[in-house]
Amino acid sequence: MTAIDLRQAWLETRRMMSAPLPLVAPLSDDAPLAWRNTRLLRGRAAPSPAWPDALSMADAQAAIRAWDGYTPTPLHALPATAARLGLGALWCKDEGTRFGLGSFKALGAPYAAQRLLDGRDPAATTLASCTDGNHGRALAWAARRMGARCVIGIPRGVSENRIAAIADLGAEIMRIDLPYDDAFAALRATATTQGWVVVSDFGVTGDDVAAQHCMAGYTLMMQEALAQLGEARPTHVFVQGGCGGFAAAMLAALHDRYGSARPFFTVIEPARAACLLEAARAGMPVRITGDLETLMGGLSCGVISSAAWPWVVRGADAFLVLPERFVGPGLRLHARPPGGDARVVAGETAAAGMGALLALAGDAAAREALGLDAASRVLIFACEGATDPGSWQALAAG
Ligand SMILES: Cc1ncc(COP(=O)(O)O)c(C=O)c1O
Repeated sequence: MTAIDLRQAWLETRRMMSAPLPLVAPLSDDAPLAWRNTRLLRGRAAPSPAWPDALSMADAQAAIRAWDGYTPTPLHALPATAARLGLGALWCKDEGTRFGLGSFKALGAPYAAQRLLDGRDPAATTLASCTDGNHGRALAWAARRMGARCVIGIPRGVSENRIAAIADLGAEIMRIDLPYDDAFAALRATATTQGWVVVSDFGVTGDDVAAQHCMAGYTLMMQEALAQLGEARPTHVFVQGGCGGFAAAMLAALHDRYGSARPFFTVIEPARAACLLEAARAGMPVRITGDLETLMGGLSCGVISSAAWPWVVRGADAFLVLPERFVGPGLRLHARPPGGDARVVAGETAAAGMGALLALAGDAAAREALGLDAASRVLIFACEGATDPGSWQALAAG
């Protein structure tokens, strides 16, 4: 895709997102595991990271590297686990230690906040967002560093541990007893009347710069991983999909490095919140109905982010619908790996990568659909640590 094509995609997204979205019922845990993306534009599709300006990866990466306390997160080679799963090689990028905030989200909101506060007086600014955990924690941290006030809206169903982690960083908590999408709409309305700066990792209109800045910040994770891999080159990359910002950023960074010769890219989603798969199937953004409830809390999203749309729907090779029953085993394989492999404390959302590989190990048709075999070299992301320690302990002991 050229820069012009991408711009058109952006405008098209804006038009589509402004209409009421079609409603789509959630899938069940018995749905097929692997889905090839029929909207893929691979080959002639190389989403241009140069457009829009907000997505300048190089600027974002340089800015974050300059922050106090910056250090790349580890990339673990897991050879014994690879052998157990019938793979040639396996690497896991471990985001649990990112800036002491427990997840890769620390690369997004703080960078977006820095860009949005440029030229403003932080002491006279309120940063706000609505979140079920990691994004809010990252924004609260950013606000404290910059000396701004922070208000975080908390939708229905978020655990008290996650709320406490946000409040501990000095944010004011606004409980909104609604599902995520509705809670966000309520927070936006309040922010407009109060003059707060909304820093959302979810784009609604197609030109939400905050969501674009978040994605630009996330690309540092892939840049680090590729540097850590050195000469080694993965054949397959699996990432978790919530509203799609993470997946879009990883795809854009892979394109930046490899162009259309990039690794086969699969997005993992929970059956009850597969809004990225369903957007690709419908050829337009849709809204998943139901409570979107999943153990993989970071992936509980009903609508694709407009900022992520062009990359995910035109760039992901495949989607994997992960049944809930694989989350615990994935988490435990990280916690108690075979051989001398590194132990990774991967939270429930993070465990989706390993859970997906476990599910694939028992499903020959799905492995074939993704071109996965004993020679495959796979990169996964443990995108959060034990962000809810009680829940992690319970699953790890299971
Ligand atoms: C740990 C973790 N992983 C993955 C995701 C999904 O990211 P995105 O919503 O950008 O797709 C989230 C979202 O909050 C998250 O917290």
